[in-house]
Amino acid sequence: MEGSLGFLFLTFLIIPLPHYFIFCTGHIDSKVRCIDSERHALLKFKQDLIDPSNWLSSWTIDGDCCHWVGVVCHNLTAHVQQLCLRTFHPSGGFESEEQYEALIFFGGKLNPSLLDLKHLNNFDLSFNNFSASPIPEFLGSIKSLTSLNLSNAGFVGVIPHQLGNLSNLLYLNLKSSIFPGLYVNNLQWLLGLPLLQHLDMSGIDLSKASDWLQLTNTLPSLFDLRLSYSQLPFIPPTLLVNFSSLLTLDLSENQFGNTLIPSWIFGLHNLVSLDLSENYFQGPIPIDLQNMTSLRLLDLSLNNFNSSIPNWLYSFSHLDFLNLRYNNLQGIISSDIGNLTSAISIDLSENELGGKLPRSLGNLCNLREIKLSSNKGGQEIFEILESLLVCLSDRLEILRLFNSQLYGHLTDELGLLKNLAVLDLANNSISGPLPLSLGSFSSLGYLDLSKNLFNGIVPQNFGQLSKLHTLHIESNMLEGAVSKSHFSNLTGLTTFFAFGNQLTLNVSHDWIPPFQLELLSLQSWKLGPKFPPWLCSQRYLLYLDISNTQISDVIPPSIWNLSSLFIYLNLSHNQINGEIPNNPSILSTSSVVDLSSNHFKGSLPYISSSVVVLDLSDNSFSKSISSFLCFKMNDSKSIGYLNLEKNNLSGKIPDCWMKWNSLVVLNLANNNFSGSFPTSIGSLTLLKSLHPYNNKFFGNFPSSLRNCEKLVIYY
Ligand SMILES: *[C@@H]1O[C@H](CO)[C@@H](O)[C@H](O)[C@H]1NC(C)=O
Ligand SMILES: *[C@@H]1O[C@H](CO)[C@@H](O)[C@H](O)[C@H]1NC(C)=O
Ligand SMILES: *[C@@H]1O[C@H](CO)[C@@H](O)[C@H](O)[C@H]1NC(C)=O
Ligand SMILES: *[C@@H]1O[C@H](CO)[C@@H](O)[C@H](O)[C@H]1NC(C)=O
Ligand SMILES: *[C@@H]1O[C@H](CO)[C@@H](O)[C@H](O)[C@H]1NC(C)=O
Ligand SMILES: *[C@@H]1O[C@H](CO)[C@@H](O)[C@H](O)[C@H]1NC(C)=O
Ligand SMILES: *[C@@H]1O[C@H](CO)[C@@H](O)[C@H](O)[C@H]1NC(C)=O
Ligand SMILES: *[C@@H]1O[C@H](CO)[C@@H](O)[C@H](O)[C@H]1NC(C)=O
Ligand SMILES: *[C@@H]1O[C@H](CO)[C@@H](O)[C@H](O)[C@H]1NC(C)=O
Ligand SMILES: *[C@@H]1O[C@H](CO)[C@@H](O)[C@H](O)[C@H]1NC(C)=O
Ligand SMILES: *[C@@H]1O[C@H](CO)[C@@H](O)[C@H](O)[C@H]1NC(C)=O
Ligand SMILES: *[C@@H]1O[C@H](CO)[C@@H](O)[C@H](O)[C@H]1NC(C)=O
Repeated sequence: MEGSLGFLFLTFLIIPLPHYFIFCTGHIDSKVRCIDSERHALLKFKQDLIDPSNWLSSWTIDGDCCHWVGVVCHNLTAHVQQLCLRTFHPSGGFESEEQYEALIFFGGKLNPSLLDLKHLNNFDLSFNNFSASPIPEFLGSIKSLTSLNLSNAGFVGVIPHQLGNLSNLLYLNLKSSIFPGLYVNNLQWLLGLPLLQHLDMSGIDLSKASDWLQLTNTLPSLFDLRLSYSQLPFIPPTLLVNFSSLLTLDLSENQFGNTLIPSWIFGLHNLVSLDLSENYFQGPIPIDLQNMTSLRLLDLSLNNFNSSIPNWLYSFSHLDFLNLRYNNLQGIISSDIGNLTSAISIDLSENELGGKLPRSLGNLCNLREIKLSSNKGGQEIFEILESLLVCLSDRLEILRLFNSQLYGHLTDELGLLKNLAVLDLANNSISGPLPLSLGSFSSLGYLDLSKNLFNGIVPQNFGQLSKLHTLHIESNMLEGAVSKSHFSNLTGLTTFFAFGNQLTLNVSHDWIPPFQLELLSLQSWKLGPKFPPWLCSQRYLLYLDISNTQISDVIPPSIWNLSSLFIYLNLSHNQINGEIPNNPSILSTSSVVDLSSNHFKGSLPYISSSVVVLDLSDNSFSKSISSFLCFKMNDSKSIGYLNLEKNNLSGKIPDCWMKWNSLVVLNLANNNFSGSFPTSIGSLTLLKSLHPYNNKFFGNFPSSLRNCEKLVIYY
């Protein structure tokens, strides 16, 4: 979650629209009174709409439709001009914050009564849920439309070519995020939209539109074209460019394959925003890009560019947003990077860049986000901090430098970057104590210091990081006690990974944590001898690892009430005792369950079909394995690894293996099983290792086991 910057990228690159462009403004206090026929049309339209939150409660039979939510009338003629039924956006005109937060969408059908709104310019249905229904053809007959926004409205199926009759359209947004969702058979209908300025068909399957480029190129006024994740079939290398008015071009996530960037793109001299990410373009970053100096956004991430970062790129003085992540870029980062003085966000991570970060980075006083992780650098962390502090102390929000071979100590100067929301220094060689100044970040949400050489204690003022949601300090050399004051204000913490240190949790028996964790690993901490009672207060745990934590206690029964959420549960290597209640809902969603090396007793628990790994070895489970093995016999199981070694299980193995056919490892060793193996064990065709030794089995393995071609049996 890096939500803090989300707003930035949504807003800062909005290209200024011509003044006559109509945005859906929703309710406006108008003095005109609504026209009867149009009110009837709207009421009819409402009838077919599903409106679970009753947002349209103001749409009443005798009301004045010019004052209804989402309706805007012309201020002189009183004709309905705009219909804004966007769910997601505060400017959609909804009345209360509660309605906005409820996020319950409109659905249902669109009634053709809309055709009676002869002066409707602007129709915005974005962010709704017209699930599984196609875009109605009649929309193509609302000739007055200049703006049609069906972005994420939930429609599926073929896009009606009738939309090509909307000859006044300036703005068309059909963006979809349902897969498979919308598709086209061709794009010929675009020829009917000569005034179009903005076209967004991202997420729509355009694979049948082999002439997508020739057709969009005929739109003389187009300045914003977005075809991200559109399965574009092919990108023509050359083209006589007609849409040189283009300001924004987004062709990301089309995976054109190992081709070069087509040369016609370099002719788009006015481009302000160019997104070619995730297309597997190859070769050097092309020199022909160097004339595109108007660019404010350049995203070439997730391609195969393998040159160095060309120096001319640093002369793009308007560049706000530069993303070169995940290529094979070589060489060093030149100090000319300090010429990108407009830069707000720079991401060069996951390349092969070497050398130190130039100090000139410190000249970029507008930076809010620096991501340089996973390169070959290697440098003292203090040097980097020092250059960042030249002018970024009030600004920088995101600093990611994981896997960067950084070393040295993290000093208290860090605290001067006081607006940090994300700090990721994982997997470096940074040593010394954690600086006290870490506690002073009032906006810090994500902190990852894992896999370093930090030593000493965890400072108590961590407890002040009231915005923290994710904390990784695992795999360091931290030691000492962690007490409730370390957590005092961590009310939003959801992820806490701290294994691989020498830490002790010192909280009172009745401590109630201020947080509700989802992911927790305290492996190898000293938590025992009592089972930590506060764990039972954590109602949303999905991942829990408290293995090897010196717990020597009966497991509280209420822990099993949490277990229906677990996807990973590791209580191994303790001395936990008690029975596991034989309730089918236990372990119902878990995929990995490791209770090994404890003192659990009683019968084996039922497992659900979602369990993939189950290790119950080295416990005191006893009795027969029949109900465990034959429970819901006809349901397919996913389990691949089952370890029951070193228990007191006894009796015969029942003939219930038919649906256990995902098993790869089956360990039954060191129990008191008797009898012979049943025929159904031959269903385990994926089995690679079977451990039957130290039991009282007799007889031969059934001939059916010959089906298990990859099997090794350990006697
Ligand atoms: C009507 O709206 C137009 C533009 O939206 C505005 O210029 C004009 O002043 C308004 N007229 C009245 C009477 O409100
Ligand atoms: C269309 O809808 C999307 C999603 O609600 C929104 O981001 C965009 O600004 C809308 N476009 C216009 C012109 O209102
Ligand atoms: C959309 O509507 C469908 C069917 O009406 C429903 O199953 C689905 O949960 C809805 N999705 C959302 C996000 O509300
Ligand atoms: C709409 O467009 C279709 C072709 O896409 C055409 O056959 C039809 O006559 C048009 N209707 C109107 C009202 O223009
Ligand atoms: C480009 O524009 C010129 C002049 O406006 C026109 O003659 C030509 O046909 C157009 N080419 C394409 C491919 O649309
Ligand atoms: C870059 O990739 C191209 C195409 O795969 C290859 O021909 C060229 O040798 C590579 N250059 C470097 C410096 O690796
Ligand atoms: C870039 O500009 C130079 C000098 O103005 C010009 O010679 C060259 O052809 C241009 N390159 C492209 C790809 O437009
Ligand atoms: C960066 O700026 C310096 C000083 O103004 C200048 O000498 C240098 O040529 C610039 N580098 C680039 C790549 O524009
Ligand atoms: C940690 O960094 C080293 C190189 O410094 C790298 O080999 C290793 O894959 C990284 N580990 C992770 C988990 O990213
Ligand atoms: C916890 O946060 C509150 C409000 O943000 C603040 O008044 C209090 O001092 C903080 N306590 C600690 C221990 O940081
Ligand atoms: C644990 O906490 C208690 C009470 O807060 C304190 O007296 C004791 O010294 C602490 N133990 C350790 C090892 O820090
Ligand atoms: C567990 O949940 C069940 C049903 O929700 C409830 O009856 C029982 O008291 C709970 N047990 C504990 C120990 O919280």
